[in-house]
Amino acid sequence: MTKTDPGEAVISLRKVTAELGSRPVLRGIDLQVGRGEVVALLGANGSGKSTAVRTVIGQVPVSGGEIEIFGAPRRRFRDWARVGYVPQRTTAAGGVPATISEVVASGRLSRARFGILGRADRAAVARAIDLVGLADRAKDSVNALSGGQHQRVLIARALASEPELLIMDEPMAGVDLASQEVLAATLREQVAKGASVLLVLHELGPLEPLIDRAVVLRDGCVTHDGPPPRAVGQHALPGHDHVHPHTADAEPVRTGLLT
Ligand SMILES: Nc1ncnc2c1ncn2[C@@H]1O[C@H](COP(=O)(O)OP(=O)(O)O)[C@@H](O)[C@H]1O
Ligand SMILES: [Mg+2]
Repeated sequence: MTKTDPGEAVISLRKVTAELGSRPVLRGIDLQVGRGEVVALLGANGSGKSTAVRTVIGQVPVSGGEIEIFGAPRRRFRDWARVGYVPQRTTAAGGVPATISEVVASGRLSRARFGILGRADRAAVARAIDLVGLADRAKDSVNALSGGQHQRVLIARALASEPELLIMDEPMAGVDLASQEVLAATLREQVAKGASVLLVLHELGPLEPLIDRAVVLRDGCVTHDGPPPRAVGQHALPGHDHVHPHTADAEPVRTGLLT
C-alpha cells in the first residue's frame, strides 16, 4: 500500500556504514526511494548527505550494510543509463572549455551504441538542453555561464539519457531565482513522466510541493523519515495550488525539523 514497499524500491540502503579518512561518516543509515517517489535527503552541512548519495553511485566505498538499485545489489548493477546523477556543484571551474552541447551529450554516451551518438541520441540531447531553457546557448562554452546556467547544464546532462531515476545533490545551491524556476519545472515534468527522484537539499524551497517524503540525517544517522517538514503557512492557505502530480492521502505534518 505504501509507496515504499521494499519490492518497489528503486534505491534501498540498509544499515549502510562508511568511513572517510578513518572517520565514521555514515553510521548505519536506512534509506528507501520507491518507484515514482520523490525523496528529499535533508540535514545540516557535514551530516553525510553527499556521502550517502555517493555510496549509491559507487563513488564512496561502504564498510557495511547493503545497497540495492532497481532491486539489484549495487555491485552487480550495470544499467547506469537508467540513472541520472547531478553532483554537488563546486565553485572550481574545469580547465577544458567545452560547449553546452558537448557536456550534455556526454550524459547520453551510456545510451549510445558503440559510443557514437546517432540521430535519436542527438535529438535526446537537444531535448534535454531545450528543457532547461538553454537551446539558444547550445554552442556556447560552459565557462561563460552563470552559476545557475551551469547548474542547468549539469541537469540537462543527467536528463540526456532519459533516466528513470534522478539523483541530484543540492541542485538549487547557488542558483538564481530564474534558474530555480526552470529547474523546478523541469523536475516536475520528469516526475509527471514517472521518474523516481532522490534530492539532496539544504532546505525545501521551491521544490517543496514535489516532495513525497523527507529523510533527515544528523551526524551520519537518520533522525527522521516521513512527511517533509512543511514551511508553516504556504499549505495552510485556502486555494493553495498543490502542484503535486500524485497522492493526496497523507496530510502534511509540521515537524518543525528545519525551523
Ligand atoms: N573525501 C573526504 N575525506 C574525508 N572526510 C570527508 C570527505 N568528504 C567528506 N568528508 C567528511 O564527511 C562528513 C560528511 O560530508 P558530506 O557527506 O559531504 O556532508 P553533507 O553533504 O551533508 O554536507 C563531513 O564531516 C566531511 O567533512
Ligand atoms: Mg553535500
